[in-house]
Amino acid sequence: MMALQRFPNAAIVSSKILGEKLKFPNRRTAANRFMKAAMTERLSTYDPQNPKKHGLPTKEVLNIYDKWGRGEYGMIITGNVVVDPTNLEAIGNAIIFEEGDSEERRSLYAQWAKNMKHDGALAIMQLSHAGRQSSIWVNRTPFGASDIELKTDPPGTMYGKPIALTTEQIKTEVVDRFVYAAKYAYECGFDGIQIHGAHGYLLTQFTSPTTNNRTDKYGGSLENRNRIIIEIYEAIRKEVPESTGFLVGIKSNSKEFQEKGTTVNDARDLCEAYEKHGFDFVELTGGTAEKYVFAHERESTKIREAFFVEFADAIRPVFKNTVLYLTGGFRTVGAMIDAVEKGTTQGIGLARPATAEPDLPKKILNGSVPSAVKDAFNPNDIIKQIMASGSQIEQMGRKSVEDAGGDVMDQISDYSDPKMVELFIQATYKLFEEGKQAAMAGKAPKTVVVME
Ligand SMILES: Cc1cc2nc3c(=O)[nH]c(=O)nc-3n(C[C@H](O)[C@H](O)[C@H](O)COP(=O)(O)O)c2cc1C
Repeated sequence: MMALQRFPNAAIVSSKILGEKLKFPNRRTAANRFMKAAMTERLSTYDPQNPKKHGLPTKEVLNIYDKWGRGEYGMIITGNVVVDPTNLEAIGNAIIFEEGDSEERRSLYAQWAKNMKHDGALAIMQLSHAGRQSSIWVNRTPFGASDIELKTDPPGTMYGKPIALTTEQIKTEVVDRFVYAAKYAYECGFDGIQIHGAHGYLLTQFTSPTTNNRTDKYGGSLENRNRIIIEIYEAIRKEVPESTGFLVGIKSNSKEFQEKGTTVNDARDLCEAYEKHGFDFVELTGGTAEKYVFAHERESTKIREAFFVEFADAIRPVFKNTVLYLTGGFRTVGAMIDAVEKGTTQGIGLARPATAEPDLPKKILNGSVPSAVKDAFNPNDIIKQIMASGSQIEQMGRKSVEDAGGDVMDQISDYSDPKMVELFIQATYKLFEEGKQAAMAGKAPKTVVVME
């Protein structure tokens, strides 16, 4: 087997600055600047007819975080945990909802939080509501800010026409559900939650003019479009006040790269409101399911690696107390340090590099590696890269660290090897073909490639 290939990094620089602590407005601290960004696992139970057995984290989910929990991240964020059992991002999402409460659910979530903290990471649960980005296999009539449908070409994920939430439903179906789940996370031992306010899910369907044509107090001006998020924040803080030390953050888009989508100026104003209301942290990202942008949209950002650096530079000045994380594209220690030293961001979010190597921060901080594993995919083939990361997450779930003899890399495919990439691409074609057949037979297509 060939050795893992890494991003070339001419200058071997000290990673010391990345090991600095980050202090949040509510006085909690993260041990260093690294954050494992949210990545959906799609490995929880799916049983919509049986609330007690619907959306329970499985042993595989616990094994995955047993590994990331040993990677020396300052903060680890779960994949999206959904607050409405019928508005899922995908089959296999973990879910928290009142009708599904049980001793079993509480103990699984408590174990999940515990596994994230082996190395002292802050365990953060990402809370989401998919809204119009619920696939038709989950819900043909999901909720939306407005009834504007997301159009994609089959055999990709297909979406139904959403039902616009009434003003009353915004409280009962969204705000109350986020609050319930946040309190649940707190009671199960999580250190905080991250509201998913990015990538086209329900809350961005409110903030983005492309999906919000409401004429009530939740539509129109930017302040109105952001109202639902502020209401969620304030309502969570009533149940779990700042004095508990529980963190409340948000993942927010820096830009949507779509006609009429959120602009950088809008994003800055949204972030200004989050700072003013006391959010502990904001993670900046970009794009939607209509327009994935987990690659370089601009030549000018290539040199600084991270996709959204220029937007983060424009937004950063609004933050005084709220801690800023930037996610998307970071691969070398040099670029991470540069972003921190230039004041672009305080924290460094890692997603795909963390599935190739769950303990990347530990290796960076002890100086043994200068960069992430460099996969051999075409850099613009974002969908395949995302799917490859999904398959590595499934591989991480097969064994606990103990059963894997202490090896957090156990069974993870090496996609820096072009031969492995070739095999993976063949497997995706097979999955797409099977997906088409399943869809024609009225069954949900599988979304995770399982590689031996
Ligand atoms: C397999 C996979 C699943 C993801 N799932 C989520 C998710 O559940 N919630 C979220 O906010 N972002 C999700 N993302 C986006 C990542 O958090 C991150 O923003 C993006 O991959 C860019 O960072 P990177 O260049 O370090 O991979 C996912 C990304 C991947 C690759």
